[in-house]
Amino acid sequence: MVKVGKGCMKLNLAFDVYGTLIDTQGVLQQLESLVGSKAQLFSDSWRAKQLEYSFRRGLMQRYEHFSVCTKDALNFTCDLLNIHLTEEQKLQLLKQYSGLPAFNDVALALPKLAEKYRLIAFSNGESASVCSLLEQAKIADYFSAVVTADEINTFKPDPKIYQHLLNRIDSQAKDTWLISGNPFDVIGAKSCGLHAAWLKRSPTAVFDPWGIEPDIEIGQLGELLHNLE
Ligand code: LAC
Repeated sequence: MVKVGKGCMKLNLAFDVYGTLIDTQGVLQQLESLVGSKAQLFSDSWRAKQLEYSFRRGLMQRYEHFSVCTKDALNFTCDLLNIHLTEEQKLQLLKQYSGLPAFNDVALALPKLAEKYRLIAFSNGESASVCSLLEQAKIADYFSAVVTADEINTFKPDPKIYQHLLNRIDSQAKDTWLISGNPFDVIGAKSCGLHAAWLKRSPTAVFDPWGIEPDIEIGQLGELLHNLE
């Protein structure tokens, strides 16, 4: 249990989006209709490559929007698995990606969390895509700010973006939590002095053994209500 005392009304909770609020496996059904039994493998490769491309672009200082990483990773995965998709099928998949669903616990937990804390959406996605996802999932109104990578043309876990988050919300690391399903993001935030909660979205998920641990680990968003008081 993390006690934050009277200052809790001002505590900032910055939520990662893809893989934390929004389920990147939401394309599985459509993938099954296109690639059958390879759907899970396809989805996992697509997501892993998308993240790798964002990390590499950040390191190389060759920023392109996250949606470019997503599109390039889709093409890579088709080549890797030797699967031919038509341009139209790829466009359909990318369209589906821009309307991915929220995880089931999100709509239930956010209203309660928003009563106590200042909520921020904080993503490597570009602003228009993230705002559209939050709108479609009917959760946009719970966030007092949306902070995205395209504002400074670099990606998490570049320390610059965590500092950018603090600048944008005019706050300090000690008053700010990152909530993320992505271990790389948790480690990135902790390295910059923020508090961080790892939302273990899958029972088989493994946290990177870097010696930098999340302050708390939760299995679903609602648990934040009992862990932050
Ligand atoms: C996000 C993904 C990359 O930042 O987790 O929303």
